[in-house]
Amino acid sequence: MAELFSALEIRGTRFRNRVFVSPMCQYSAIDGVPQTWHLVHLGSRAVGGAGLVMTEATAVSERARISPSDTGVWSRVQYEAWKPIVRFIREQGAVPGMQLAHAGRKASTGAPWLGGHPLSQNEGGWIPVAPSSLPFADGYPIPEELDEAGIFALEAEFVAAARNAQRAGFEVLELHFAHGYLMHEFLSPLSNKRQDCYGGDLGARMTIPLRVVDAVRHVWPNDYPLFVRLSITDWIPGGWDLESSITFVRALHVRGVDLVDCSSGGIAPKASIPTGPGYQTHFAETIRRETGILTGAVGLITDAIQADHIIRTGQADAIFLARAELRQPYWPLEAACQLGVSCEWPPQYARARLENR
Ligand SMILES: Cc1cc2nc3c(=O)[nH]c(=O)nc-3n(C[C@H](O)[C@H](O)[C@H](O)COP(=O)(O)O)c2cc1C
Repeated sequence: MAELFSALEIRGTRFRNRVFVSPMCQYSAIDGVPQTWHLVHLGSRAVGGAGLVMTEATAVSERARISPSDTGVWSRVQYEAWKPIVRFIREQGAVPGMQLAHAGRKASTGAPWLGGHPLSQNEGGWIPVAPSSLPFADGYPIPEELDEAGIFALEAEFVAAARNAQRAGFEVLELHFAHGYLMHEFLSPLSNKRQDCYGGDLGARMTIPLRVVDAVRHVWPNDYPLFVRLSITDWIPGGWDLESSITFVRALHVRGVDLVDCSSGGIAPKASIPTGPGYQTHFAETIRRETGILTGAVGLITDAIQADHIIRTGQADAIFLARAELRQPYWPLEAACQLGVSCEWPPQYARARLENR
């Protein structure tokens, strides 16, 4: 029976445990280039004992950014800047992963601490793109509908970004198909109103995300894991739902996606989401059971016993922690002590081991 601190092997990659750092935007890059902040932020979480340290949503092109201060991986300057960060993460025994993203109609906004509102062109904003020219919400710009050439360019951007992520040394890629960003916008009937072969029934709406998966899997090394983060439901009647997710994940599985990171929501501001401890874990459990793919559980998982229970009971194969890891970068080291599991501490910190008190 697997537990939180048992190793996990996917393709040629071994994760020392199943505590994964969830992708978290830091709004601290300059021209898409990660800074010292990213080295310290991601590096601390690798020191803290996580099995996988995933970057924030990292843009595949300039206009794919959520904000002007997002990280990117579309240029050489950017992938060179990721290299020392990747090296440090690996030196600590964690696996370095990158989340690749395109923000679609939710692009061109300010950092949350600056209000998070859509930016005008005077403020450094740009016109976002989307499957249909429907804004995310009142006050958001009307996005430009992607034409065939734009869709073709998009696939090429994901492929180039995947190649650059490999050049930087990342070993895991996660494609961001959740939270109302571009690929989720293609999937959901609430945001995809296209009349061509990319809109309409479920099969048509899945076309572009599956083409992106095929293209990325083709260039991403065969012995490196590929994850997809999916919003399992829009939490809105008539929207994307669990049943559509099961169909979609079966298609991902046969295309060589290894793990689905099961999140939810984000397509529209008015969804009613029943948040609470582990509120998305049952999605990871159902997707795992119905499709046979590995899953990650995420969302208000904060406690070591809770996380260990999810793994022991076979609800998920890994736990993605976001806010708990922001509060406490050494969460895995503390959790191991609490669960009575021996785990390696960085030698520099050995005198602080809780069992040595
Ligand atoms: C500061 C912050 C930034 C986030 N940025 C991203 C992101 O870049 N990509 C993503 O998929 N989710 C992002 N999320 C969502 C988290 O990865 C996670 O799914 C969510 O916070 C629920 O997990 P938690 O309860 O452990 O925080 C972000 C969350 C936070 C708190």
